[in-house]
Amino acid sequence: MNGANTLIGKQSTFAKRQNPQLQIVQQGGYLESVSSKAGSLNLMVSNKGFEMIEGTLKINERLTLLPPDDPNHSETYYILEGSLKNDAGLMLELGDSCSTQGLQDTFIFTALGFTRFLYISSKPIFHEISHEMQDLLQLAVDIELKDGYTADHCLRLQRLSYATGQELALESHRLHVLDYGAYLHDVGKIKIPLEILQKPAKLTDEEYRIIKNHPSYGYDMLANTFMKEAGRIVEQHHERLDGSGYPFALSQENILLEAYIVAVADTYDAMTTDRPYRKALDPQIAFDELDKYSNIHYPKEVVKAFRSAVKRIELGH
Ligand SMILES: [Fe+2]
Ligand SMILES: [Fe+2]
Repeated sequence: MNGANTLIGKQSTFAKRQNPQLQIVQQGGYLESVSSKAGSLNLMVSNKGFEMIEGTLKINERLTLLPPDDPNHSETYYILEGSLKNDAGLMLELGDSCSTQGLQDTFIFTALGFTRFLYISSKPIFHEISHEMQDLLQLAVDIELKDGYTADHCLRLQRLSYATGQELALESHRLHVLDYGAYLHDVGKIKIPLEILQKPAKLTDEEYRIIKNHPSYGYDMLANTFMKEAGRIVEQHHERLDGSGYPFALSQENILLEAYIVAVADTYDAMTTDRPYRKALDPQIAFDELDKYSNIHYPKEVVKAFRSAVKRIELGH
């Protein structure tokens, strides 16, 4: 499941018909539900490790099928409503089913309209993908708000980064990890004291040194979650091509392409949105600034791909 979206609700609507032997969960009643801007996940059955979940997705939101993490785990999807398509033109339509058993690659499908599906997992997965997701993704949004961004900063960064990754023809699994990495890039700021994060005056060297820990804090926070693969992207999103970045002053190809993508998107978004200390700049000024630092802070091809991605998003493609 793709989950890097702000979760906005969590509820339990366990409506059941009572019988000492047979527990019937009535239509519309779920053991637990979580919803987000992208859709919802509703736990219908949880039985000896096996789970049946109903999922919904809004138009243009994504469903990601991942290769199983162990050979005994399988996931099956059955489309109840709507249809989905992947970049290669593969369709999942009403009544279709598929399983992740034997998958080597990651498959990312986009909902062509409102979509509803059954999701059956051979191991308990609901809490992992809902609660863990809920906490971290919410934290990412909270911290950006405290840092003076608008609530959509994470979402915009996710969209911009993903689209740039597509321009650079990243394969599906890397796109999937980039999706989370972009959304969670600043989650480590939660460990930075607020008086430093929100200090209206210039930071002292010591305060700046503390701020510079946030990529590593983010990496640590993801280390034991199912999003751990995104940790390196988070850790490197302030590294720069010429070695002038932090926390490790990495340079050139020692920095992940995904981290460069997030860096470019983050810089652009910071410039083109209102910040506490100045109004949003015109996109053209932001592009000029990125061009100026192309091949100094960011690889040229990433800046170029980012431009195309922004254009494509503006055109609604
Ligand atoms: Fe950051
Ligand atoms: Fe940011």
